[in-house]
Amino acid sequence: MKNFSLFLSFTFLFLCPFLSQADVPELSREPPRPIVFVPHDGSKSDPQQVHVSLAGKDHMRVTYITEDKKVESVVEYGKQPGKYDRKTTGESTSYKYFFYHSGKIHHVKIGPLEPNTTYYYMCGCNGPEFSFKTPPSSFPVEFAIVGDLGQTEWTAATLAQIKSQDYDVFLLPGDLSYADTNQPLWDSFGRLVEPLASKRPWMVTQGNHEIEFFPIIEHTTFKSYNSRWLMPYTESLSESNLYYSFDVAGVHTVMLGSYTDFDCDSDQYQWLQADLAKVDRKTTPWVIVLLHAPWYNTNEAHEGEGESMREAMESLLFNARVDVVFAGHVHAYERFKRVYNNKADQCGPIHITIGDGGNREGLATSFKKPPSPLSVFRESSFGHGRLKVIDGKRAHWSWHRNNDSNTLLADEVWLESLSSSSSCWSSSQSHDEL
Ligand SMILES: *[C@@H]1O[C@H](CO)[C@@H](O)[C@H](O)[C@H]1NC(C)=O
Ligand SMILES: *[C@@H]1O[C@H](CO)[C@@H](O)[C@H](O)[C@H]1NC(C)=O
Ligand SMILES: [Fe+2]
Repeated sequence: MKNFSLFLSFTFLFLCPFLSQADVPELSREPPRPIVFVPHDGSKSDPQQVHVSLAGKDHMRVTYITEDKKVESVVEYGKQPGKYDRKTTGESTSYKYFFYHSGKIHHVKIGPLEPNTTYYYMCGCNGPEFSFKTPPSSFPVEFAIVGDLGQTEWTAATLAQIKSQDYDVFLLPGDLSYADTNQPLWDSFGRLVEPLASKRPWMVTQGNHEIEFFPIIEHTTFKSYNSRWLMPYTESLSESNLYYSFDVAGVHTVMLGSYTDFDCDSDQYQWLQADLAKVDRKTTPWVIVLLHAPWYNTNEAHEGEGESMREAMESLLFNARVDVVFAGHVHAYERFKRVYNNKADQCGPIHITIGDGGNREGLATSFKKPPSPLSVFRESSFGHGRLKVIDGKRAHWSWHRNNDSNTLLADEVWLESLSSSSSCWSSSQSHDEL
């Protein structure tokens, strides 16, 4: 038997010399591709790097950057192109990093807005018109999800795939620009994602590439990330931009920080406990969590890096009957069974690693052998995921592998929310008591 499989592998290696690590043998694995640098081709007062994010009930935050510091933090908007019947003034910030001085970073919170509605807007009374669509207030709702995005030609391919099929909200579980202290790359990243991020809310959490600590020169961590990617943390009663939550239709989404304190006396832990206790599964039947370093991972890359956070926080998520945990960090795709404490558990979350956006470091190609019985599907290819929540009970998860100019549905599964699983809500685990 052993000899036979050895024989098969040798035959396979011989026939397909480039596919030796493949779990799915019909596709060759993508090598890293070069960085795409997107220049600013407007004037100093033209808004650039425009992106929108959810900012509490019925509100959105519009973020844009101008090189000209005299441009005001103002967004004009309305439901018809060119007709702006509303105008809101926001705030601005900027930062220095070694010799680099950022542009003026404007954050303008607008609303109240109607759900599932297109708004046209202009930033800083200048430049082109943009438009976004607000998410629906009820099911169905669709999320596009991918981490470790970077800004290579593969990133551009992933973004093109995401754009080609509509979605309501984009979720990014950490590692955005891979600027890695080279600040102009943050600006380039902002310009690369603008065609998507100005049209649909982009909700992000941070990865190790956002830390940007530099010995002697820069001791403030997450400086660029926090200045540019302001998320609704005050709106969700968090003290830090590094962890927060929000509701979309009937989905409560929690963004956690893998690189800030998470032990039981930390602010993050206390906040998470309080946030989960407030969840009403009648209003938000689905609860999903995003974080960067996976708690479950059978890739040799980053093995065990999420372990101390898992030990600290897994029981909180389990007791709250979280449905799915999405992670990045490992540059591959992997889907697990419902798990808790390293064992299959029908009341635990499904864990999914989706760190395959297309960054410059390339793919994590070595999965441990033999495969863990907890791991259902794993593959090292670039791509992105989609979570389409149909109603309070059913959702469809799919993983779309990049395939040159098109995309290929490579993994899919129907999920049922734990809110509708009566066996997971014994009287001692009623969510009123969490
Ligand atoms: C959102 O609007 C579109 C058309 O504009 C409609 O087809 C769809 O049903 C709406 N979705 C919800 C959840 O209301
Ligand atoms: C993948 O892309 C190639 C080249 O565009 C195409 O020939 C092939 O049919 C695609 N595969 C699938 C399964 O779509
Ligand atoms: Fe990472």
